Amino acid sequence: MTELTNVTEAKAIKVPTLPDAQTVTSVTHWTDRLFSFRVTRPASLRFRSGEFVMIGLMGEPHPETGKVKPLLRAYSIASPSWDEELEFYSIKVQDGPLTSRLQHIQPGDEIILRPKPVGTLVHDALLPGKRLWFFATGTGFAPFASLLREPQTYEDYDEIVITHTCREAGELTYGRDLIESLKQDELLNELIGEGFWKKIKYYPTTTREESAKMGRITDLMRSGEAFADLGVAPLSPETDRAMICGNLAFNLELKEMLEGYGLVEGANSNPQHYVVEKAFLD
Ligand SMILES: Cc1cc2nc3c(=O)[nH]c(=O)nc-3n(C[C@H](O)[C@H](O)[C@H](O)COP(=O)(O)OP(=O)(O)OC[C@H]3O[C@@H](n4cnc5c(N)ncnc54)[C@H](O)[C@@H]3O)c2cc1C
Ligand SMILES: NC(=O)c1ccc[n+]([C@@H]2O[C@H](COP(=O)([O-])OP(=O)(O)OC[C@H]3O[C@@H](n4cnc5c(N)ncnc54)[C@H](OP(=O)(O)O)[C@@H]3O)[C@@H](O)[C@H]2O)c1
Repeated sequence: MTELTNVTEAKAIKVPTLPDAQTVTSVTHWTDRLFSFRVTRPASLRFRSGEFVMIGLMGEPHPETGKVKPLLRAYSIASPSWDEELEFYSIKVQDGPLTSRLQHIQPGDEIILRPKPVGTLVHDALLPGKRLWFFATGTGFAPFASLLREPQTYEDYDEIVITHTCREAGELTYGRDLIESLKQDELLNELIGEGFWKKIKYYPTTTREESAKMGRITDLMRSGEAFADLGVAPLSPETDRAMICGNLAFNLELKEMLEGYGLVEGANSNPQHYVVEKAFLD
């Protein structure tokens, strides 16, 4: 009798799992506006490093019907395709429908993850080249966090330049720590080759707080300062390939600049010299 009661009670208190639920395994807060987190990976999910998926939480109940619907947003997968978990790098928008709540997740909580990866920031969308440029602002670093840990990046290119422009110095920390961690990454050093990370040229800049390099990357390229600092020639369609991920104005400005260097925009169906994706919708 007692046993039966216990079984019934266990059933009654079981919290229904979300559709496409994944469990949060760790959370790191980088600034009051930025955090990253890792979740379990659905066994069936295959993706190419650089792609994005829709993730979210259940929305608030509808005021009249009481029905709840998933509240989903596009998120770049920041972990590489071989990782057994999935990592995301997120903004915290204080009045944002999703991130006002998502910023409070803890290990053990569940999020919704639709396992349908898509996106243009993939190796398949670029023609072979010698040097690969990753241009990011803010959370636009996320797809490059994936591609910087993807062996193909180093197999396909002699040099990888990653530029990251943020307003404040603290907003660079996630990217800086990740790049630094590659030096000690035993698995990647073994898999790709000892010292693979020496192919990376990292160029972080800030626009509204003092740091080692101030200014928008676009302005620093136009003046030639960025190329002089990096010790590389301006981009050319013969040698250079590029991926852009930032705010809309940045994407448009940089697109125009790359076209000026003679680079042509590519897509999954038509590989060319560069590809673009929005870091968020304005
Ligand atoms: C293809 C794609 C990939 C994306 N990948 C990521 C990602 O990896 N990480 C991430 O944090 N966001 C990413 N986003 C943005 C994300 O989809 C949401 O907009 C974000 O999570 C905020 O959701 P929200 O519901 O809180 O606010 P929303 O209503 O979606 O946004 C409110 C406002 O906040 C600002 N905002 C939204 N997202 C950002 C951001 N990332 N950085 C700065 N300002 C922002 C915009 O001004 C926006 O109008 C991506 C968007 C797209 C289209
Ligand atoms: N970052 C913060 O501390 C902060 C704080 C509170 C609220 N917000 C709000 O959050 C939203 C997103 O802010 P965010 O800082 O994440 O992203 P953002 O406004 O897109 O800026 C990210 C970086 O991109 C640079 N940038 C913008 N347009 C560019 C262009 N055309 N070419 C080259 N570089 C360009 C910015 O430089 P500039 O600084 O020169 O524009 C900044 O360094 C904004 O609506 C903002 O008002 C941000």
